[in-house]
Amino acid sequence: MKILVIGSGAREHALLRALHRDPAVTALHVAPGNAGTAALATTHPVAVADPAAVTALARGIGVDLVVIGPEVPLVAGVADAVRAAGIAAFGPSAAAARIEGSKAFAKDVMAQAGVPTAAAFPVTAAAEVDAALAATGAPYVVKDDGLAAGKGVVVTEDLTTARDHALDVLAGGHPVLIESFLSGPEVSLFAICDGTRAVPLLPAQDFKRVGDGDTGPNTGGMGAYAPLPWAPADLVATVRATVLDPVIAEMARRGSPFSGLLYAGLVLTPTGPQVIEFNCRFGDPETQVVLELLETPLAGLLAASAAGDLSDHTDLVWRDGSAVTVVVAAENYPGAPVTGDVITGADADGVLHAGTATDDTGAVVSAGGRVLSVLGLGGDLDEARTQAYERVSGIGLRGSHHRTDIALAAAQGRVTVPAP
Ligand code: AMP
Ligand code: GLY
Repeated sequence: MKILVIGSGAREHALLRALHRDPAVTALHVAPGNAGTAALATTHPVAVADPAAVTALARGIGVDLVVIGPEVPLVAGVADAVRAAGIAAFGPSAAAARIEGSKAFAKDVMAQAGVPTAAAFPVTAAAEVDAALAATGAPYVVKDDGLAAGKGVVVTEDLTTARDHALDVLAGGHPVLIESFLSGPEVSLFAICDGTRAVPLLPAQDFKRVGDGDTGPNTGGMGAYAPLPWAPADLVATVRATVLDPVIAEMARRGSPFSGLLYAGLVLTPTGPQVIEFNCRFGDPETQVVLELLETPLAGLLAASAAGDLSDHTDLVWRDGSAVTVVVAAENYPGAPVTGDVITGADADGVLHAGTATDDTGAVVSAGGRVLSVLGLGGDLDEARTQAYERVSGIGLRGSHHRTDIALAAAQGRVTVPAP
């Protein structure tokens, strides 16, 4: 199988690593890739949100499967265009990708499907903001209803901060969603889907805030771990029955069946799992840990999803132990990141690249906000953390920062699901 992976983050580096392990894979290509993916795949500098450009590339190199990593090309219809050219694509149609592209659409699907989620008030005019904030009360949850790379959400006790964010988003021309606050630990559960069926992967946890102790602004994700030693034994079965299966059925009923990766962002509340968001693609950085633990060959799984039949792929095999990833971010991230600094140690084992590039002299330099995603594996979370942080200490990048508490509370047995 010849495969083209679309995207340039550590998620795509992880996808390439896992595809590389699959003996069915004969050649790997990536567009646009980064300095790290170049070691595994042939790099093509193509504008990935341009359906015609991606299709031309896939046809030109004669690939059997295109795996689309990020949401922007999916929402732009890249999977539709590739399929229309007769090439298999892993990823939803633009119509199905709306489950991520529009939070209001996702809420509507959930309402129809009876999926538990936070009450939400869509707001399109400044005059409606105060009433919606009064309706939910504090803590306030104010979301940009457009693609915002995980950075469009403000959760705050402060009414003025909440109001200002809502007004800023409206001023930028996006609708706003104001939601009731859900309390409990967060879980990311991914499922590979084929339009009628969802095959769940291992639940993982992401760390969205930039600072230790969940402080500071939201980011795309600063680290992750899997599996979740504290999760209820029936978590996956419950989410499948209450979230995944009903959503897959509702999307099919609407004539926009979901194939590709459905990412359920959940809060385990005292009354059970509730959805905070859906994404239409693998999560970053959770993918880095989930795929590190997957033993089932990935290419066959993604190809079966693309072909619309996962019936032979419902029993996935996972390796024992735990995986942790720690994101090394550029100075000033999640604000405008400082880029162009030389990175040392980035070719070490377990170091996945995100915002990296190779400069004229051949040096690896920072080229984005999240620069590296450093993996650790071990018999338990403690061992996996130790390895990940040892590897982080071998990285040199002026001004960089990372969280020091990824998976710490879980390793210490301090994560609990609130009792009803
Ligand atoms: P989202 O982009 O919708 O995933 O939101 C980003 C982050 O904001 C989530 O990972 C949560 O930490 C937080 N968040 C979003 N919605 C809620 C909610 N209704 N209640 C509590 N926290 C939320
Ligand atoms: N880790 C959050 C996301 O991929 O959206």
